[in-house]
Amino acid sequence: MQHSIQSNTTWKTPSNIAIVKYWGKRDVQEPVNPSISFSLSEATTTTKITASPSEKGGFTFLLDGKEQGSFDKKIRKFLELAQVRLPLIKDHFLKIESSNTFPHSTGIASSASAMSALAFCLADLQHQITPENPLDISEVSSVARLGSGSAARSVYGGWNLWGRLTEIPESSDHYAVPVPVSVNPVFQKFHDDILIVKSEKKPVSSSAGHALMNHHPYRNGRIKQAHDNTLNLIKYLETGNLEGFIEMAESEALSLHALMMSSTPSYTLLQPNSLLLIEKIREFRKTKDIPVSFTMDAGPNIHLLYPDEYQKEISGWQEKELQPLCEKSRIIRDNVGNGPQKIINS
Ligand code: PMV
Repeated sequence: MQHSIQSNTTWKTPSNIAIVKYWGKRDVQEPVNPSISFSLSEATTTTKITASPSEKGGFTFLLDGKEQGSFDKKIRKFLELAQVRLPLIKDHFLKIESSNTFPHSTGIASSASAMSALAFCLADLQHQITPENPLDISEVSSVARLGSGSAARSVYGGWNLWGRLTEIPESSDHYAVPVPVSVNPVFQKFHDDILIVKSEKKPVSSSAGHALMNHHPYRNGRIKQAHDNTLNLIKYLETGNLEGFIEMAESEALSLHALMMSSTPSYTLLQPNSLLLIEKIREFRKTKDIPVSFTMDAGPNIHLLYPDEYQKEISGWQEKELQPLCEKSRIIRDNVGNGPQKIINS
């Protein structure tokens, strides 16, 4: 039975960066292909929800202490979908207070951390109200997915898989799972330095991009590519195969952008400096024999990837050659993180 009480909880959850990209979906937010990402350590969202009994439900959303109406539509849609599993949403007013560690409008997607933080808070509150409902992490992932597909992977630290493959029985389209292997040390302390090329809001949203995959001429080929890459990446993560990783990470990133360029209507998110950075990274890898590579999200920024042991060699080159190509010399330095945390006494 559901009791109405006033209660609050606070969770801090990470953003993540995909190596095998989720691109294209079916209703409701189920992926057309499997994806793998790692959770970040520094790029996080902290959210506090205070729930007060109210027959009409409802919510208010504050980002960094200020009302942010522009997010209301997305949050309302998410709450509507989530209330089927979390009935407290229907009879509580939710005061949602969020803040991000990464600067606003730097082109870093915040939806993965934002939606996973919301999902943890709501599942925790539901558990407080109806203790017979355990705080089940697959369920939290599944709820986070309803807000943003990539958020499903932000409920754990380390490397995570989302999307069903018959070869991996524990995998699911509904929720993410940690990759089902022991990750080689070379990938455990992996870096992701985000080279900010342009921080403006992107002209085509992820949702619109996913939708263009419905009738994309390369749809079936893409689904097969992502499936094969997922199985291979799991092997590389286990064996520490950096060469295989680099080849695949870059091909995945460029394939994502190639899909955008070949959709109807077609569009480009890359900027001239995105391509210059890619060239510089490939040249440095070749001439210095250092296993540095890149990936990209649905945007112009370049994510520089490398194992921890090369940090020193990379930092001087990064400052001299890469930083001048970044908007306002901006680089956000991050690495594999430990995952969500409940904040006590907030
Ligand atoms: O979670 P969404 O709907 O914002 O989609 C994210 C898509 C990519 O970031 C491009 C890839 C991914 O798997 O995170």
